[in-house]
Amino acid sequence: MLPFAELHLHLEGTLEPDMVFELAERNRIALPWQDVDDLRSRYEYGCLQDFLDVYYANMAVLRTEADFAELTDAYLARAAASGVVRAEVFFDLQAHTARGVPAPVALAGVADALARSEADHGVSSGLIVTFLRHLPAADAERAYAEALTTGVDLLGIGLCSSEIGFPAMPFAPLYARARADGLHTVAHAGEEGGPEYVWEALETLGAERIDHGITALRDPSLVEHLVRNRIPLTVCPLSNVRLKAVPDLAAHPLPAMLDAGIVACVNSDDPAYFGGYLDANLAAVRRDLALSDDQLATLAANSIEASFLPASEKTRLKQAALVS
Ligand code: ADE
Ligand code: ZN
Repeated sequence: MLPFAELHLHLEGTLEPDMVFELAERNRIALPWQDVDDLRSRYEYGCLQDFLDVYYANMAVLRTEADFAELTDAYLARAAASGVVRAEVFFDLQAHTARGVPAPVALAGVADALARSEADHGVSSGLIVTFLRHLPAADAERAYAEALTTGVDLLGIGLCSSEIGFPAMPFAPLYARARADGLHTVAHAGEEGGPEYVWEALETLGAERIDHGITALRDPSLVEHLVRNRIPLTVCPLSNVRLKAVPDLAAHPLPAMLDAGIVACVNSDDPAYFGGYLDANLAAVRRDLALSDDQLATLAANSIEASFLPASEKTRLKQAALVS
């Protein structure tokens, strides 16, 4: 199996319907859904916001440190079975503190599972706290400060949630602070918004990686910039189809990205909501986009290159990819 890094994965997006109901019962939370089938019937989305509404509603069941640890551990086990050897996972801290879950509780559960990921699943890992761009930047700054006080080791920060109409610019001071603190920076951009959102994430936030970026190809000068500076795009094919960012998988720009020389890699985004984990995404692009073995190996190598692993570890993993 080729070794992959998964770099665009929201831990809350791995909350499977069965687990939603199990945790609701355990924590005595009333859900707006009748049963698992009723919940699954809500997994038809016309756009990003339709999905986000269900995604945030389901988070209500996550209350205790053990809940967050179980969620994270279940993802790591599933990712390892998909060929993931490195996971740099997103966590929407504000979505939990806003519901009254203390930051140290939420972060300790996630951090505990991540600390065991190498020993338990053979997956090295890092934690990226993602801030919600539909909320004021001052909220994100408070959440960042709170995350730091927990002492939990952070790999980086990111920006996600609703995109169109929510500029990245107000988050520039937060990004500057995180960079000064030695953290990596990524940002969702160009998922529903056009290439100007990708430019904004690069120029005002200084994001090192762009999450999605599928509209980048509409701007040749942006493509040239991404290729020249080897700025990776963390692409999520099944997510893009389910959120109607592309009409169908056969129309996905992934092959064009690879042909252009962009460091694109495949990820699962919110696998419990979009029809599958990394392996399902890879199988789907292989089938519907007729990707060759060489293109698949390029995707694996790109994912390792795009990771925030030390250079020596990247070299080791890329060599492992060549012999697998
Ligand atoms: N949060 C979780 N999944 C997301 C996505 N696909 N886009 C923006 N924010 C998200
Ligand atoms: Zn995402």
